[in-house]
Amino acid sequence: MAVGIFDSGLGGLTIWSAVQARLPDQDFVYLADSANAPYGVRDADAIYALTVNATQRLFDAGCDLVVLACNTASAAALRRMQEGWVPSDKRVLGVFVPLIEALTERQWGDNSPPREVAVNHVALFATPATVATRAFQRELSFRAIGMDVEAQACGGVVDAIEEGDLILAQALVRSHVDALKRKMPHPQTAILGCTHYPLMHEAFQEALGADVKVLSQADLVAESLADYLCRHPDKTGGGTAAFLTTGDPKRVSDRATQFLRREISFQAA
Ligand code: DGL
Repeated sequence: MAVGIFDSGLGGLTIWSAVQARLPDQDFVYLADSANAPYGVRDADAIYALTVNATQRLFDAGCDLVVLACNTASAAALRRMQEGWVPSDKRVLGVFVPLIEALTERQWGDNSPPREVAVNHVALFATPATVATRAFQRELSFRAIGMDVEAQACGGVVDAIEEGDLILAQALVRSHVDALKRKMPHPQTAILGCTHYPLMHEAFQEALGADVKVLSQADLVAESLADYLCRHPDKTGGGTAAFLTTGDPKRVSDRATQFLRREISFQAA
């Protein structure tokens, strides 16, 4: 069985890349809804409708398990999908709980009451839609006491990345970090709460300073998915990957190859 990985565009490739390195025999189908990216400026109903469509496309491609490698979809649509839409023989998982468990020093599925943790000042960088849901803050408050989280909605960064405009993306990252620092001058840890942002990891780290720990999701999600697949084994994989896009395959392939620094070839979805 192939695992479906979904994002509005290129960001989910950061997750696919880490998951594929961790699980080299697993088959994957990646879907980028490039024609409708960015999602982060849309309202929750629109994000829900687009995410349901994309997930159905991956079910139709033979994936029984789909990872929403998109924080915006995970924050705005996942719970609603799990409560009323996902068929009983399929699974849809999101990306931010593994990161929140790591930040709050918990093992998978530890639902004990909230407690004090080492990190108290956390900067969250995410899309406007993710920030608006307050989903990160809600999940953190279930697990940690006294954690101060300052969120910065990073308008424009995803568009610049999808356009392949690195200079603009770097400039926007610097200005969003400046805006965050005006609200929280000394964050201890920064969460890159959008799967596109690890593609700009260096720009975030440089703007934040070397003493700020910058957390992104890829390795944490890879570990958590590996753990999940060990508990639900399927030995049929041959390590293949197919990449589908609702946008222009040539353009999306060029951008993907530019950012991942390896040849990635998309086909029309
Ligand atoms: N990569 C997506 C995320 O993690 C989203 C981007 C978007 O389409 O705005 O939020």
